[in-house]
Amino acid sequence: MSIATGPRCHQTKAWAALQDHYGSTGGTFDARDAFRRDDKRFASFSQQAPHVFADLSKNAIDTQAEAHLFALARERGLERRRDAMFAGEAINTTEQRAVKHWLLRVPEGGSPDPDLALVHSTLDAMLAYAEQVRADAAITDVVNIGIGGSDLGPQMAVAALDAFADPGKRLHFVSNIDGHELAGVLRRLRPQSTLFLIASKTFTTLETMTNARSAKRWFEAEGGTDIARHFAALTTNVQAARDFGIATTFGFWDWVGGRYSLWSSIGLPIAIAVGAQGFRELLAGAHAMDQHFRTEALERNLPVRLGLLDLWYRNFHGFTSRSIAPYHSALRRLPAYLQQLEMESNGKRVDLDGQPLPFATSPVLWGEPGTNGQHAYFQMLHQGTDRVPVEFIAVREPAHALPEHHALLLANALAQSQALMQGRADASGHRDFPGNRPSTFFLLDALTPRSLGAFLALYEHRVFVSGALWGINSFDQWGVELGKVLAQDIARRFATHAMDGVDPSTAGLLQKLL
Ligand code: F6P
Repeated sequence: MSIATGPRCHQTKAWAALQDHYGSTGGTFDARDAFRRDDKRFASFSQQAPHVFADLSKNAIDTQAEAHLFALARERGLERRRDAMFAGEAINTTEQRAVKHWLLRVPEGGSPDPDLALVHSTLDAMLAYAEQVRADAAITDVVNIGIGGSDLGPQMAVAALDAFADPGKRLHFVSNIDGHELAGVLRRLRPQSTLFLIASKTFTTLETMTNARSAKRWFEAEGGTDIARHFAALTTNVQAARDFGIATTFGFWDWVGGRYSLWSSIGLPIAIAVGAQGFRELLAGAHAMDQHFRTEALERNLPVRLGLLDLWYRNFHGFTSRSIAPYHSALRRLPAYLQQLEMESNGKRVDLDGQPLPFATSPVLWGEPGTNGQHAYFQMLHQGTDRVPVEFIAVREPAHALPEHHALLLANALAQSQALMQGRADASGHRDFPGNRPSTFFLLDALTPRSLGAFLALYEHRVFVSGALWGINSFDQWGVELGKVLAQDIARRFATHAMDGVDPSTAGLLQKLL
């Protein structure tokens, strides 16, 4: 079945209408005037989606621009492509794979997809194992060895859900091939009380396999004997894990992209931290957002509205980055996780046919938890020469009993978004805040497994939307290959000292390192 998605983005009628609109009033849009003109702006540009409230009203967008963007989505066949993903079609065309991370969140009996039974039997086994580890008082430390999608999602979620975590287990994450990381963790551990999880979709990734081999050597050298009890593997390549000597394995499938895999067996560290019930709630929250994305009209579909805003900002306003400002310290790894999700998915320069695109795609995502960012780079956000859209994520109910802190935290989040928009005129120049700087404000009632699941699924689908509009493959990552090949070549030269065919700059640096 075809997954054609209508005319190319920049050749649609809606694109031309957006260009006209941007040229007339869209480009000079001022949110302060917009609020003066329209007392319903907050209502029209905010909405409740499952577990997530979003206020888009401080953004540089008006109803006319949004109407053209909805028209663009329709011309591009966005709903067809969304339905193709949910029908299990091989929309990852460069790898001939279906894209079914959403299936990992479907309750039993909730989809005719033939893989659902396997999803649930694997989930049940993985969660039973997580409970077994939680009940095993002899295991105090769990080390997840993985990188990229096999690290960032679980690491972010374990930190985010710390308030729900079993305090008897310390979770560690080792990703970097830099031996300082593994050595730093191992220094504090004993083999008898440590469980290693080797997390790798392919079970071939250089960093992970190097760290896994070193961990196994350390385990044996320190007197560890029972590999079966102290090592487990999370992978689609179960055979490679067995060949490595690991008997306890939890599988997943090639239709789960690495950066979309925290819902699969890759989520085992999360399940060990928060328990089987907590993990099921994470899945349920994401499933609620999947249903919203799948069934809501485009006009009230939050991932769609966000993805359209992203395109409007990137291709018309020309914004090159987006700052992520989680006002919750437990979300400290969220910016790094979102970087992979969005930039590895949509950092592409050719369309589905491999043809160069005449417009820009993924922005740079970056950020730190609030209020820390305020005392570092918010200066630039308020008074720098670039306008950078900021995304605030705040949580109404804290998970601590220090109400004074939380009120101040929330006041700061609101004040920053207000200051960015309102600005403050001052004749001195130095103290002048231009204002009209765009931001989105996400609000969760509480940071729970359910609301986290919904928020992450919201982001996944938003990335899907902008990728689909641009006509790119959001589910491959060929851009990581070249560096891997060259690293192997250079690693060999460390041994041979051969310099033939190496460019002069790299050769100069290599000489210094030999
Ligand atoms: O190098 C990029 C990448 O392929 C990511 O997409 C992936 O999440 C990561 O490496 C880890 O891959 P694996 O889980 O196969 O070890």
